[in-house]
This record gives sequence, C-alpha cells and structure tokens, in this order.
Amino acid sequence: MQMEQELHASNPTPPSPPQGGVGPARLAILLSGRGSNMLALAEAVRTGVLHGLAEIAVVFSNDPAAGGLDAAAELGLPTASLTSRGRKREEFDREVVAILQGYQPDYIVLAGYMRVLSPVFVRAFAGRIINIHPADTHQHQGLHAYECAFDNRLPETKITVHLVDEGLDTGPILAQRVVNLSGADTLAEVQRRGLAVEHQLYAETIRELLNKNA
Ligand code: GAR
Repeated sequence: MQMEQELHASNPTPPSPPQGGVGPARLAILLSGRGSNMLALAEAVRTGVLHGLAEIAVVFSNDPAAGGLDAAAELGLPTASLTSRGRKREEFDREVVAILQGYQPDYIVLAGYMRVLSPVFVRAFAGRIINIHPADTHQHQGLHAYECAFDNRLPETKITVHLVDEGLDTGPILAQRVVNLSGADTLAEVQRRGLAVEHQLYAETIRELLNKNA
C-alpha cells in the first residue's frame, strides 16, 4: 500500500515578513477535527479580544479531511495539511515543523490536535506551544475528558489552558475555568457547556500571554 504523504496547502495570504516583536503575533492553529475552537479564535482575531494583537498565520491539520480545515478555508485563512496516518511520530513531526516554520509562527496553538507531540516538535517551538484541555490536567490527561466527566457524573469539569512540554498534558497551567455540569444529563449537554467556556477562555488566555510577552 502506498502511503499518502502529500502536503496540501492553500495560502491566500503569503506569510508576512518577520515582525521582530512588532505587530500582531502570528498564530499557527493545529486541529484534527471540526475546529470550533479555531473558529472562536478566528472570531476573536477578527472582532474580539485578539483583534490587533494576533493574526492567524496558518491552520494546519494532520487529517486532510478535517472539517476544521474547510471551515478555515471558507474564512479565507491559509491552510495546510499532511496526513499522519501510517507515519512514525518523529519523522512526521519533523516534516510538520518544517511546514509550520514556513509560516513563521510566533505561537503554536493546539485546538483539538489529537496527536502526542514528540520532543522534536516540542523543542522546535519550546515555550511557544499552547493547548486547551477539557479537564483539569492534574486530574485527567489525554483523550475523552468530556466522556469521562459524563460517565462519572462529575459535578464539574475545569477547562485548562496550558503551555506544552514534553509530557502528556503536564505543562505549566496558564488558566483554568470551572464548568458547572450539574443537571447535564447528556454527553452533548456536557460538551455544549464545556465548549462555550473553552471558546472564551482560550482567546482570553492567549490575550494575557501576548500582553505579558509583548
Ligand atoms: C475540544 O474540546 C478540546 O478541548 C479537545 O478537543 C476538542 C476539539 O474541539 N482537546 C483535547 O481533548 C486535547 N487533549 P474543536 O475541534 O471543536 O475545537
């Protein structure tokens, strides 16, 4: 079987020259799925708390069929993808780093990017990778946090935004916000409440980080 290793890229706006700390911070948003967090960030850049502070350099996916890529392209954002299927983690990450570097990102923003990052990736962007997680990363790491909250009828979850280090959801926490789950009697309702908080908290936390590092 031949592996599909093709890079797909659309780039309606060519990368800006390096800003040298002046001008909006360039975000590379990485996703694997529908991209609701990406859309919320794009809206925050367009008219919300990130307006004038950040711009989206590229939306990248490890799945060329991810719905979030189409959504980004519809907004006119540059997109790129490379399938991770059948690829060795380090080798794949090395290629992704090279692709992303072509867009000169200041920050890598994980928004439902369902990959464990290898040290190759983390070291390439050390201290500049941000993730959002649907639970307290001290309590629950990895996938299926909403499912876990629902299955165990937890009274709340704590959305966490953190810097990414070489561990699985172990990096320094930037912000957390509690989501009240009482009375949420379907998984869809748990996710609805959680995502509503994610969409606000992510943009607000990135804003604080950019202001702090300005
Ligand atoms: C979000 O709930 C995000 O917190 C989660 O994936 C979802 C992506 O949704 N991330 C993780 O679980 C990372 N461990 P989206 O594609 O609609 O933004």
